[in-house]
Amino acid sequence: MPEAAALQVREAAEAAPDWATLRAVASSCVACALSEGRTQVVFADGEAPADVMFVGEAPGFHEDRQGVPFVGVSGQLLTRLLSEVGIERSQVVIANVLKCRPPANRDPLPDEVATCKGWLRRQVHLVDPAVICTLGNFATRWALGPDVSITRVRGQRFTVSGRTVVPTFHPSAALRSGPEGAQMQALRADMATLARVVADRG
Ligand code: URA
Repeated sequence: MPEAAALQVREAAEAAPDWATLRAVASSCVACALSEGRTQVVFADGEAPADVMFVGEAPGFHEDRQGVPFVGVSGQLLTRLLSEVGIERSQVVIANVLKCRPPANRDPLPDEVATCKGWLRRQVHLVDPAVICTLGNFATRWALGPDVSITRVRGQRFTVSGRTVVPTFHPSAALRSGPEGAQMQALRADMATLARVVADRG
């Protein structure tokens, strides 16, 4: 029963008083079937609190192996683009909508997102970021609602529960578009926007 699993996750997450406890509790999550195929839970990179948080979709092959989000080619691109706009990866927190790798990197299912989102909700609460950058459609729909499309909202600023949300393309979409592709250029431009938003708040 997905609703019962979602409630169980939410209650466990809300009961975690701090980041280390939340990480430990989430690491043994078996609330959905993704737990059967994972190597490990991929909780987050970075520590709470932080001014800036990135939210991606779900761990891939390398993330599942290493237990850290965005360490594969998409992650390397993200780290490089951040550094180009003066943001070091070590200053931010990076997490995903799903904490476990979907088989063969398929898209997250609605029930998986609904079950897992209690972890992310508590992560956001503890990190307490002023700015959240959502990477791709799944993370952007988590933040802005189910009807948004990343192509329409990317690069804009939204305010959600007092935090600024800047949606942009997922780095894997940018990689597919090629080094001079439209999505790569948009991702680069949106990272510059993000850096300006962060600087304006500081
Ligand atoms: N893609 C994501 O959305 N998250 C990761 O951690 C890796 C690739």
